Amino acid sequence: MHIVNAISELRDAVGAWRALGQSVALVPTMGNLHAGHLALVNEAKNKADRVVVSIFVNPTQFGVGEDFETYPRTEREDQEKLNAAGADLLFQPAVSEIYAPDAKTVVSVSGLSEQYCGAFRPGHFDGVATVVCKLFNIVQPDVALFGLKDFQQLTVIRTMVRDLNIPVEIIGVDTVREASGLAMSSRNGYLTVEEKAVASKLYQTLCDARNAVLAGHLSDQEIESRALLFLQESGFQPDYFSVCRASDLKKADVDDKELVLLTAARLGKTRLIDNIYFSR
Ligand code: PAJ
Repeated sequence: MHIVNAISELRDAVGAWRALGQSVALVPTMGNLHAGHLALVNEAKNKADRVVVSIFVNPTQFGVGEDFETYPRTEREDQEKLNAAGADLLFQPAVSEIYAPDAKTVVSVSGLSEQYCGAFRPGHFDGVATVVCKLFNIVQPDVALFGLKDFQQLTVIRTMVRDLNIPVEIIGVDTVREASGLAMSSRNGYLTVEEKAVASKLYQTLCDARNAVLAGHLSDQEIESRALLFLQESGFQPDYFSVCRASDLKKADVDDKELVLLTAARLGKTRLIDNIYFSR
């Protein structure tokens, strides 16, 4: 696997593949790779001739007092995992390679970015949309892969690509979970052993709520308040739990068929997010 830090080197490598007529997939990450990230890399290999993975802990998507400085950085292990997974190129730029000191342009997918996680992390999705837009311009991939785990992020990116006519196909990949049901996440490493045992209740709550939606006896509002109560009683401090229409994350109407249940909850000092996407 080729490892590059500079945009010019990345462009040379991708340009050489293009000259051979090869297609390119991009998997953007912030590193500390786990099986969820590697599922994206595997799917990328099915979708294109060449796979570029980026590792960049993006400062603009972290708020004041969040974990930018302490976010786990595990460069050597990540490189070994990507090598074994068969990625072709790792792009690992410094912050100064991505952001000019006086950068003035921000991509904002308004209407989608302020709700749910955006309400609790103001500016977060502007940082995500801006860096992903920049990565698309740097790599110019044919396809880019993102996890359904971060459903709101995926929706923000799909909307940005549509609105800005970015010529890339966005592919969503199913959430990879631990045996307990807990969605894999780099932030799970912050959980204590006791908290980890409780953490799997987030997915259990989502499954119960999905079953309640499908049974059709309770209103969405009742399902949401029961889920929030159950999470509180289990030791979480929930930020939100919402029954949404999958296409635009608005509150679901009775005749909406494609739904997603979105939730975020804090457990000790760790903030966990998860969701279930389903049809009725
Ligand atoms: P990061 O949290 O490192 O995640 C990188 C990609 O892996 C995202 O598309 C995310 O949805 C996916 N992912 C994480 N956990 C997963 C799991 N358990 N199953 C399947 N996919 C999973 O998300 C980001 O980085 C950043 O916001 C980024 C898009 C790179 C922009 O900075």
